[in-house]
Formats: sequence, structure tokens, C-alpha cells
Amino acid sequence: MSEHNINRIGVLTSGGDAPGMNAAIRAVVRTASFLDLHAYGIMRGYAGLIEGEIKRLEKSTVGNIIHRGGTILKTARSDAFRTKEGRQKAFDSLMAHDIDALIVIGGDGTFTGANVFAEEFNIPIIGVPGTIDNDLYGTDLTIGFDTAVNTAMETVDRIRDTADAHSRLFFIEVMGRHSGFIALYTGIGSGAGSIMIPEKSYDIDSVARTLRKGVRRQKLFNLIIVAEGNTTGNAFEVANKVKDLVDNAEVKVSVIGHAQRGGAPTAMDRLLASRLGYGAVNALLEGQSRAMIGVLNNQITFTPFIDAISKPKVPNEDLIRMAEILSL
Ligand code: F6P
Repeated sequence: MSEHNINRIGVLTSGGDAPGMNAAIRAVVRTASFLDLHAYGIMRGYAGLIEGEIKRLEKSTVGNIIHRGGTILKTARSDAFRTKEGRQKAFDSLMAHDIDALIVIGGDGTFTGANVFAEEFNIPIIGVPGTIDNDLYGTDLTIGFDTAVNTAMETVDRIRDTADAHSRLFFIEVMGRHSGFIALYTGIGSGAGSIMIPEKSYDIDSVARTLRKGVRRQKLFNLIIVAEGNTTGNAFEVANKVKDLVDNAEVKVSVIGHAQRGGAPTAMDRLLASRLGYGAVNALLEGQSRAMIGVLNNQITFTPFIDAISKPKVPNEDLIRMAEILSL
């Protein structure tokens, strides 16, 4: 059991929003209420915590939100929370509301802040992985990833129709600043001709060679998925380099952008968010802290913040190879 007597739990969302965050907030509030605990919503992540933007969340406050993208608590990236003064103000806000523990929903930046804050002020914190990038070590999937991939894949399906009709070569950029999960899964799901991810390095000549091979065997259109963080360049840069190397190619670029971050969460994201929100409250009561809750092989697991943020999570090599083979 914990040295802390937990009665009031604060919940916040921070960093980039992800579809399913609302389902996680709902699960936290409803689980807390079932256990006769009080839940408090902190607006705009750590920025709102510093400013004391905190409100009581009742069971009914979180009705009718499980299917909504975005986050009812809003989100932000806070520079002030990186400073000792900022964190002191944040702690004062918590004390002003008698909040004993926190559940923070977000990605690596969120957990980096939580890790320092929990240690400095001896406050129990559990992290819930919410980011479309799926780049956190310690969980097979993060909340929002499945929805983002489905959105990107549906968009690529639409582009496929017009690419086919005009026999064009499309470079389609998906999100993922440092991570290729969205690109890889979208590329496999949409049958892309090539996938470019930040975890791999590419030789533009060999990319062009593959495309020329396609043209020779009458593959008149092609779809190349480029992760935002691809080290050979973004979709525009790669398209520019390739266009002179493939004869008669009519090259187009589409950037899917923030559409990937919005929309109703998929069933998988709602389920994952519900499990993690529910598990996070129970974990606090069991004395867990400074850890991210996750699901590995369908089992709830806990990974110390320090590992979740510092250990790399890379796409499976077999999947990368399979994607190449299936695209030939
Ligand atoms: O981390 C999630 C993410 O959507 C990344 O894939 C993307 O690079 C980044 O956030 C965009 O952030 P912003 O919305 O602040 O431009």
C-alpha cells in the first residue's frame, strides 16, 4: 500500500491531443467515483495546473464524450513547467485543492515533466500513454494511434483512386516527427508502393530505381508514404529529388496533416483508453507512482517513466521487410 492516503485525484491531458483521450478521462472519473474518490480536471495540461485552472469532475460531467476526438480538458505544451518556479506554482495549485495524486495523459514530454514533478514534491503520478505517434516504450499501442492510422489509410485510399485515374506518382506525408509507426501501418494497410520512415535511411537512387521498375511493368501509378520525420527529407523534398530520376512521372504531393489527430476514436482506441484510465486509478490506490501504465500482449503493465521516455521503441523489422515484399 501507498504511504499516501489518496482521496482526490487530478487528471490532465498534455502535449499533442489524441483521439481517445476523452474516453480515458471518462474512465478515470467513473472509476474514481465508483471508489468514492473525488476527481478533478486540470485544464490545458501543466499550463492550467500552474494557473490553477482546476474543476471538479462528476460522473455526469464525462457523459457523452467517449466518442469525441480532442480533449474536454484541452491541452498545451508548457515551457513554464520546465522551471522549478513553474513546478512550485503547480504544486501550490494542487495543495489549494487538496489533490493527493495525479493521472497525466500524454506522450514523452508529459512524462518527462511528471517524472521530475513526482520526485520533487513526492506526489504519486501515473502516466497514461496518449499520442498518435505510438512512440512510447512499455506499451504495444498508445491511445490515438489506431484512429490516426485509420484516418490516414482512408485518405490514402481516396488518393489511390485519383492517382490511378491520372497515372500519377503520389508522395503522401503522414505525421510522426521522430517515429515511423503511423507511416508503416498506414503504408501496409493501404498497399503503398514504398514507405519511408525516420528509423531507416534511404538512398534516393534506389527509391527511384524501384519506381522505374514499376513503370517498366506497367505500374502506372504509385503511392509512397513518407513519415514527417523521414531523414532523407519530407514528402516535398523527396518528391523533388525523385521526379527527375523517373522518366515521364507526373509527381504530386499530399500532406495529410492534423486531420490525423482529430475525429471519433476507433473502437480499439476507446477500449484501450477505458482500460488504461480504469487501471491508472487502481494503480494509484495500490501505491504505484512515477510509472506509465500500458498494455503488452494484452496484459496491463507498468513501466517507470524514465524507461518509457528514454528507451527506444522501434517498428518491427519483420513488418518493414514484409511491407517491402508485399509492395513488389
Ligand atoms: O506528437 C504528435 C504529433 O502529432 C506529431 O506526429 C507531430 O509531429 C506533432 O505532434 C505536431 O505537433 P503540433 O500540433 O504542435 O504541430
